[in-house]
Amino acid sequence: MNRITNIFVLAALFLPANLVFAEQSRWYSAEQVTHGMDLFAANCAACHGQQGEATPDWRKADDQGKYPAPPLNGSAHTWHHSMDVLRRTVKQGGGKVGGSMPAFGSVLKPEDINAVLAYVQSLWPEEIYATWAKANPDDAAAELLPVTSGNVDENGITGRLAKLLPPQTTISDPQATPVSGVYEVKAGSQFIYIDSTGQYGFVGNLIDLATGESLTEAKRTIERAAEIATFPIDDKVVFAANGEQRAYIDVFTDTTCPYCRKLHAEVPQLQAAGITVRYLAFPRGGENSQGDRELRAVWCAADPVQGMHLAKTQSVIPDNDGTCEAASAVTAGYQLGVALGVRGTPAIVLPDGTMIPGYRPHGELLATLGVEKDRQ
Ligand code: HEC
Repeated sequence: MNRITNIFVLAALFLPANLVFAEQSRWYSAEQVTHGMDLFAANCAACHGQQGEATPDWRKADDQGKYPAPPLNGSAHTWHHSMDVLRRTVKQGGGKVGGSMPAFGSVLKPEDINAVLAYVQSLWPEEIYATWAKANPDDAAAELLPVTSGNVDENGITGRLAKLLPPQTTISDPQATPVSGVYEVKAGSQFIYIDSTGQYGFVGNLIDLATGESLTEAKRTIERAAEIATFPIDDKVVFAANGEQRAYIDVFTDTTCPYCRKLHAEVPQLQAAGITVRYLAFPRGGENSQGDRELRAVWCAADPVQGMHLAKTQSVIPDNDGTCEAASAVTAGYQLGVALGVRGTPAIVLPDGTMIPGYRPHGELLATLGVEKDRQ
């Protein structure tokens, strides 16, 4: 073999197989793959192999029952995962699921994680990538954060933003938006848009002027639905539908609010139409307000449903000091409400996450939910 061939052989060994494809048909750029290759060699290759091939006996557990690192080159099942799952694996490691993959969240910036995953995917044969892209069309279509260079804070493009916010604020990974060069991050409960250097940002609604739709509000609605769905049902005071449930609403409520009482007076009609009403506490005057004390007493009552009903219909507050364990649901409801942008009560949240601020007559609610008034 002469020298020239040698160089070619070497190049073939060390270049990711699909670098050529990268620019046309995959979500990542060649630049990301190259950057990711360096990061992979430094952080991942020791366990997963230079080309993500792992060790031949990766299916065998060691003495402690731990498995070695699996191949990432498309021969195992890495391609079964969405980008979110892959990013989370690299960020958080496998500790939470009893694995031994280390967490890289404090080592690699979000754009580095994207780059390292770009390299990993560049190792996948075309048909494996195609299968993955079909199962994860949004991921495959997304133009993820480019490798940024220079002028970037040490913590990635959200670094400067993080310094401006209270230290506990969680900041999501930046997501591409339809506007080129503008990324969306969720900081606490707020959506913030930043440019790819992380130097400039703005808060507001991103509106599709062709349709008039607020893309930001659409995002908030989805988030709201997800967050309210994970709020424990046991922490809500539930007025169940009569008979088979046809829909439900979540209502942030305060026993001292007149329009909450007005809405509550119509709960029987909602129940009769097959609607479950799930109350979350939202003391509109904040902690230690009259509403806060009353709501805590309701949640601590032996029968909170009855307690809520009597408080709202007859101003009879359950006779307890509101210091039981269940009362933590009042704090939790208030915090969730604040995070979801509740400004007053009642605030009605529909199953898709749409929030209706204020009272609505039951007929209107039924129409909105697509349920007719009379089920007989
Ligand atoms: C200390 C060894 C080790 C290092 C270093 C390591 N991993 Fe892992 N990795 C594992 C093990 C072991 C697993 C299997 C899950 C577990 O045990 O947590 C895994 C699982 C994974 C998975 C999920 C694979 C699947 O098919 O579900 C991905 C993706 C991954 N690693 C990527 C990386 C990347 C990218 C790096 C470098 C930034 C890296 N790993 C560094 C050991 C390692």
